[in-house]
Amino acid sequence: MKASIVVLPGDGIGPEVASAGVAVLRQVAQRFGHEFAFTEHAIGGDAIDRFGDPLPPETREALLAADAVLLGAVGGPKWSDPNASIRPEQGLLAMRKLLGVFANVRPLKLHPRTAALSPLKAERTKGVDLVFIRELTGGIYFGAKTRSDTDATDECRYSVEEIERVLRHAFDLARSRRRKVTSVDKANVLETSRLWRAVATRVAADYPDVELEHQLVDSMAMHLLTRPADYDVIVTENMFGDILTDEASVLAGSLGLSPSASIGGPGAGVYEPIHGSAPDIAGQSLANPLGTILSAAMLLRHSLGLAQEAAVVEAAVDQVLEHANLTRDLGGSATTHAVTRAVLDAFTAK
Ligand code: NAI
Ligand code: MG
Repeated sequence: MKASIVVLPGDGIGPEVASAGVAVLRQVAQRFGHEFAFTEHAIGGDAIDRFGDPLPPETREALLAADAVLLGAVGGPKWSDPNASIRPEQGLLAMRKLLGVFANVRPLKLHPRTAALSPLKAERTKGVDLVFIRELTGGIYFGAKTRSDTDATDECRYSVEEIERVLRHAFDLARSRRRKVTSVDKANVLETSRLWRAVATRVAADYPDVELEHQLVDSMAMHLLTRPADYDVIVTENMFGDILTDEASVLAGSLGLSPSASIGGPGAGVYEPIHGSAPDIAGQSLANPLGTILSAAMLLRHSLGLAQEAAVVEAAVDQVLEHANLTRDLGGSATTHAVTRAVLDAFTAK
């Protein structure tokens, strides 16, 4: 097949991990006879420096024409002045809105070798296989904001339609898994959460074969650490999802391992590792590329419909996690390049 893939390297370790993802996708194209055209565009701090805009018009145009998007990460100390009016993260939010990608999907499957690096005891992480679906284009991150010298406000707003579509996504996914959805809210305090819970209950009636459980966000934060293996699909609103998914990533042993997909819009999906731009290790080939490589596998599966190719990439990553020298975050001493090379080699050996 032919596909046009927009690559957004971004800032910090973004370019290092993005190029690892591209290397793997190139190899997939070669091995399976696909034609992938890659074009790089600016986003985040890099785009602010070059164009004065975290999502410049030429990037927007390319995003709208793409079949899929592979993103590194954005942000860094250079652009972190809290009073600055232009910030790298605005590029991410604008991109999500532009593409209408309302569902952020983050699978968390533990590998025994790396789960051993998790702060949790092995008996707690055993059997963890869950997927978070975080609502991505609504809620408090997109609400009206005000600021004066003496106070500030952030509005949190959700429509029934916004809640319903992401919940349906969660229920559909649960049908292909263990048929359990946990909907996370704060319905004891927040009106948006009460609406969320009502919609979840109504949508669940259309999926009698899937079990729905409601969970308050504060207790969810605790259960994620005490009984993570009990969860299958966890669906929640934007800010709760942002926080809980970072917490969950700790179970995997490193932030550098986990992929994500932002999908649901009419056009391209966006695939990126869940970590940020890691300025502390940027430019030193210390970054773990596996989260980005697994994001590239999600891109193959979800945006291009290439499930077999995705499985080959995931199997190669599993093999590397089993046997290879890994990056420093996973207790190894390998460079970003060496780990990428190991994945490519494992892949060729298949
Ligand atoms: P971070 O995820 O960049 O780094 C947290 C810690 O994890 C650091 O010690 C880092 O070295 C390590 N780490 C992260 N990814 C790694 C990898 N692939 N391999 C090895 N170690 C890795 O989060 P932090 O430090 O809070 O944020 C740094 C910048 O990234 C900030 O400007 C933040 O706004 C931005 N950010 C961007 C995101 C995105 O582009 N989607 C998401 C989260 C943060
Ligand atoms: Mg976050």
